[in-house]
Amino acid sequence: MCGIIGYIGKKQAQPILLNGLKRLQYRGYDSTGLAVLDDKGLRRAPSLRIKKRAGKLNMLETAVAKRPLKGKLGISQVRWATHGVPNQVNAHPHWDCTGKIALVHNGIIENYEELKEDLLKQGHKFRSETDTEVLVHLIEKFYRGKLEKAVQQALKEVRGAYAIAVISKDEPEKLVGARFGSPLIASVGKEEGFLASDIPALLDYTKEVVLLEDEEIVVVTPGSLVVRNLQGKTLTKEKVKIRWDVAQAEKEGFPHFMLKEIHEQPQAIRSTLMGRIAESKDEIVLPELKSLEGFLASMQKIIIISCGTAWHAALVGKYMLESNVRIPVEVDISSEFRYRDPILDKKTLVVAITQSGETADTLAGLREAKTRGAKILSICNVLGSSIPRASDAVIYTHAGPEIAVASTKAYTSQLAVLYLFTLYLGGLRKALSAPKIKELILELERIPQCLEKLLESKKIILECARRYYHSFGFLYLGRTLNFPTALEGALKIKEISYIHAEGYGAGEMKHGPIALINPRLPVVCIAPESRVYDKMLSNIQEIRARKGIVISVATVDDKRIPHHSNHVIYIPKVKELFSPLLTVVPLQLLAYYIAAKRGCDIDQPKNLAKSVTVE
Ligand code: M6R
Repeated sequence: MCGIIGYIGKKQAQPILLNGLKRLQYRGYDSTGLAVLDDKGLRRAPSLRIKKRAGKLNMLETAVAKRPLKGKLGISQVRWATHGVPNQVNAHPHWDCTGKIALVHNGIIENYEELKEDLLKQGHKFRSETDTEVLVHLIEKFYRGKLEKAVQQALKEVRGAYAIAVISKDEPEKLVGARFGSPLIASVGKEEGFLASDIPALLDYTKEVVLLEDEEIVVVTPGSLVVRNLQGKTLTKEKVKIRWDVAQAEKEGFPHFMLKEIHEQPQAIRSTLMGRIAESKDEIVLPELKSLEGFLASMQKIIIISCGTAWHAALVGKYMLESNVRIPVEVDISSEFRYRDPILDKKTLVVAITQSGETADTLAGLREAKTRGAKILSICNVLGSSIPRASDAVIYTHAGPEIAVASTKAYTSQLAVLYLFTLYLGGLRKALSAPKIKELILELERIPQCLEKLLESKKIILECARRYYHSFGFLYLGRTLNFPTALEGALKIKEISYIHAEGYGAGEMKHGPIALINPRLPVVCIAPESRVYDKMLSNIQEIRARKGIVISVATVDDKRIPHHSNHVIYIPKVKELFSPLLTVVPLQLLAYYIAAKRGCDIDQPKNLAKSVTVE
């Protein structure tokens, strides 16, 4: 997720662009840049001036403070890197070979490698490692003095997601934008016009915007805008009134980033899967693993290390890898791994899972594994962070920045990568047949839609939050793939509502935790359709027999669970293997609504930091 903004009008563009970027920082913060068309007066031709910096916005602000970029047309971006590390060269804007056209982009161009190969053959010179740069060279290729036309032709060649803002020094009176899969809004005021990824960027200037739809191109001139589709047909667009203030708008109307991020999960998973499934649907495409392919085909053991929520993702990973790839998998908390003298060698793959890529214990564990000869693969959300840089290979989750301390969309995106990795390895090591891989891929692709459905209704969750927010404790029970879900549900409620909670494998109940059951203890039982469904049902009956309060998470249309539960939260029907991607969501929401009822500081819970960079 990145944020873009463009301006055209009578005022100086730079201050407006910088102000807009400030409002969009929640969408990305690893590098920033702007391009302004410097109109030097009537006597000299205008030129494009570009300034970019790695790091947060203040780096760019300092850079332009001394020598501002003067001009009344400009574009800018805050980046959340997906392709190409977050450095100055990879920061946006990117420009074409002639220096005439500049572009900023939010999204991922899936087919950028093939496009780049063709463009290189045609003589285009690339400066960055980004997927974005192909766009500006493609536009250059088609440019015959009409920017809109060139953008239209270029976008027809592109697969993936984009929201773009483009300017050309040959057409200083226009700002061109387009979108597919990534948000873009446009607005015009008196003798000025704007493009932006999101409403907060424009709130200081306008309260009316036009929301662009997929495959629409907009041409903004001072005081007017025209929207056409990719076929060139002019469209009538309605203006939408904005009623949010800035803080609300950054959270897109959600009261907290955590709730927003819970709702972003369908899109985060879509982005994580994007470009990694072959069109034939029977193969996973992970070019990032190419250099390790031989090793992955013959390795003998996997050890996954991680902390907190990422450790729970690792535990789900163990189930999916062992049962589908038939390779032994150990899972360790990073801080235990590094001090336990682990047994590993050159035939071991160590997988480090981390949202931030900076967790000190995971980094130390990875270094320990390296000295013992293991190969390192990381699964990470922050491009170019320390853990991926210390790894032999990395598969990035494309969840976008996660702001809330309690991890939600990073977790489900980590699971999505683990599914991709499992199916990839299953194929590589011939543990799964092609038809089986296809069957599982088709199911995996259904998950974002199922999540959308699941997020539509929160009635029962709200009811449970209302009834039990005063509870002294919570117990979470699950089995096999959903045992880690129980641990994650308990962690979520602990960290944001400060209620003591325990997660257990339901089979362990009778070995201790059953002593806790009483009529005031809510027990969340994760019981979707599965091989262990009947076992879960028996555990639920054991709790009811001791008068515990049962909140079940079950598959839609389950007829038996309601007879034994006080409350049932239903999830859509999916294959057992993928159920952890769904069952965790009601638990995130339950923790969220309980914390809200208790008046807790949800996005920044006490004593916690988003990224734990000390031991
Ligand atoms: O950045 P990482 O994924 O390495 O962070 C690991 C844990 O610190 C993190 O998951 C933590 O447990 C979260 N607060 C959980 O919500």
